[in-house]
This record gives sequence, C-alpha cells and structure tokens, in this order.
Amino acid sequence: MISCDISLAKNFITEQNYSTSKEKAEQALAQLKGKTGPGSEWLGWRDLLADPSDAALEQISSLADEVRKKADVFIVCGIGGSYLGAKAVIDALTPNFGDKGPEILYAGHHMGGKYLNELISYLKEKKADGSQKQIYLNVISKSGSTLETALSFRLLRELIEEMYDDDSSEHIICTTSKEGGILNKLIEKKHYRKFVIPDDIGGRFSVLTPVGLIPIAVAGIDIRTLFYGAVGAYNKYEEDPSDLLEYATLRNALHEKGITIDVFACFEPELRSFGGWIQQLLGESEGKEGQGIFPTVASYSTDLHSLGQFIQQGQRSLMETFLIVEEPMNKLEVNEMAGDDDNLNYLAGKSFHEINTKAREGTMEAHSEGNVPIVTITLKSLNEENLGELIYFFELMTGIFVYSLGVNPFNQPGVEDYKKAMYRLLGKE
Ligand code: PA5
Repeated sequence: MISCDISLAKNFITEQNYSTSKEKAEQALAQLKGKTGPGSEWLGWRDLLADPSDAALEQISSLADEVRKKADVFIVCGIGGSYLGAKAVIDALTPNFGDKGPEILYAGHHMGGKYLNELISYLKEKKADGSQKQIYLNVISKSGSTLETALSFRLLRELIEEMYDDDSSEHIICTTSKEGGILNKLIEKKHYRKFVIPDDIGGRFSVLTPVGLIPIAVAGIDIRTLFYGAVGAYNKYEEDPSDLLEYATLRNALHEKGITIDVFACFEPELRSFGGWIQQLLGESEGKEGQGIFPTVASYSTDLHSLGQFIQQGQRSLMETFLIVEEPMNKLEVNEMAGDDDNLNYLAGKSFHEINTKAREGTMEAHSEGNVPIVTITLKSLNEENLGELIYFFELMTGIFVYSLGVNPFNQPGVEDYKKAMYRLLGKE
C-alpha cells in the first residue's frame, strides 16, 4: 500500500491556483482514459495492466530460472528506459552485499572505455576454482540502434562468441521491438533468443514488460507479485484517482508559481535508483517546449551533506518529494557501550529505523521552515507489491501532470539533437 500527502506543500499555493490546476489535471486524466491526447498511441502501459497476461510472466520466469541456475554474471545492456526500471527494482529489493544469485552488471548506458575495458577483463577472469565464469547477456533496445547500447553489445557479443562459439546464441537474450531495426536483423542471422517490447509502450514506461521483468526475475525478485501490485494500483486509481490528481494538481500549481526543481529524496539508500527511474520518467516526459519541473534525486543523509545547504537556504525555486518506507526493514539496534566514550549511549536501545525516521522528520521540519514545499509518498513496506503500485502511481501521475502542461508526455524529440551532432562528429553517413 502507498499513500501520498501534500499537506506540507499546499500552503505555498492559493485556493484559486489549486482549483485551476485541478481542472487541468482532471481534463488530463480524461484524455489519458479516453486516449484523446497527443501521443495516445503510446498508452499500452495502461492496457497491459487492464488485461494482464500470465503467459508472458510465466515465459519470463522460466527463462529467469534457467539463467539463475547457470549464470555467474548477467549483463543488462541498455540505456534510459531500457535499463533504469530494472535497476530501480533490483537495487530496492536485493541485498546490498553477499550472495544473491547471478551478479547483475550494467553496460550499454555510456561509452566510457575504461569501464568497458575493465568489464571485459573481469568477465574473462577465471573463478576461484579455475573455471570460466558463466555469462549471460540481455541486450535491450527498442529501436535496436542506440549507439551506446549497440557498441557495448558489439564488444560483449564478440567476447561471448569467443567464449561459447556455437552455443553463444544460448547466452544472448535480446529484448527489442517486434520488427525492424538492426538488432532484429542480428537476431535473425544469429538465432538469439528474443523478447518483444510492445509497439505501443515507450522505453520509460516499459519496466513491466520484458524490458524490466527479465533482469528483475533473474535477480530473484518475484515478478508476479510486482506486476500484480501494479495491476492492483491500476484498478484502484481507475476507481479513485484522488491521490494522484492531488499530487499532479499540486505540481502544476507549483510549476505556475515558479517552482523549477523537484528533489526526489529518500532516507533508504536502496531507493536511490528508484529515484533515478522517476528522474528519467518525468524528465523525458515533461521537459519540453520550455516547460517542466527538473527532477533530481537525493539520497539522505548522504546528500544532506552535499545538497542540503542549497535545499535549506539556496534559491527558493525547489520542491521536495520524499519517498518513505514506513515499516522497518531490519531490527538493527544501537547497543549500550560501557564508558560511553563516544557519547552515543543516549541512542542505546533505539533501532536504526527509529533514528533514521527522526533524521527524516527533522529534515522535513527544517526544509519546511526553509520554505520548501514538501510532498510525502509512503510505502507501508519495501516489497514487490508496493513497488509495483509505486511504478504505476508514477507512470499515471506523469501522464496526468504532463498533459496538464499541454505537452505530449510520450515523445522525446530533444534527445535526437545530441545524437545528430554526435553522429555528424563521428562521421556517420
Ligand atoms: O524512454 C525512452 O524512450 C528512452 O529513454 C529510451 O528508452 C532510450 O533512449 C533507449 O532507447 P532504445 O531502447 O531504443 O535503445
């Protein structure tokens, strides 16, 4: 279960401001539901949940079982919407340290030569028992032609072909569109295993398709519960979208008052990557036609000692959205120490969850006094079901908010500009 509270932000806007924005949010939701807004051919992420398919989940689960049994390393090769959703869920739900099944590594999201060179060397390194690491590669690209991903894929498949020869196609799983693109040509030629990204779902809305679900399942996470958490959210918000409408309305009203930055803040480091997924979902959807609230991520307490000063006293053009986990994730407590030589015995007997909660409450109090509008989104606990709900919450909120700005949420024309310049400089015909 998740809940959203805007009470610490509402006094930054007037009733009039709120009610005009509410009308826009309601119209935006009607556009989404009626598929009447710009880019409405990209609403497959809603249809997916309206009519869930167990067959697709089972197919992915059985692939993941096979890979989990055989792989030492599983590489997720993709950029933007093709990997951020998987990383968000994996980082939130898998242990920080120790044995957790195949090691999940990422590539295809940049062209840093040092990283890629070290990755190749690491993959070639033998295990402690002298045997070769078992490697599986999942390349994810809807267009099949994104340079960062394609180039990393070339390097990695060269390695896999060298390692596995005729069996290499077993080790390469491709997630791409049904037809077209260079990746589909390669799949045909090399007989790689293929999963399809539906045509009507754009990258940043694709975490609940094979794009996100394959890596998430390989990481040992229960994709059925995750997916049905989102289905539950779909049904809930079709019935009563008030929480979502409030949040989208508030963002719209704050945007009109000159708020230009939304800091997505968490006190659980496991949620930082989830913030990264939200950042991309909102950033690519709303930042167009000179509009939008720049989404950014902060992981506290870490970033209270870097961004905290700015948030407290810098230019007053920002808001904060806190992602909160209500229930403790473990029982770690502070012990009483004889002599109290570090003066920390006043915390003895308290859990880290309690201490972290007080740090959050203190931060919210201070930032509120520093005139930062604050929204809280609370997950009862950090699990598959609630993350599924949170994913859909942000997808739908993005659609509503961006339509209420009068902008198409589902394209990203600006991203083409850097590509054009890069390809020209690289001499691509
Ligand atoms: O959200 C999006 O559509 C983008 O971030 C894409 O996911 C990203 O550009 C990668 O594109 P592709 O999957 O075609 O390689």
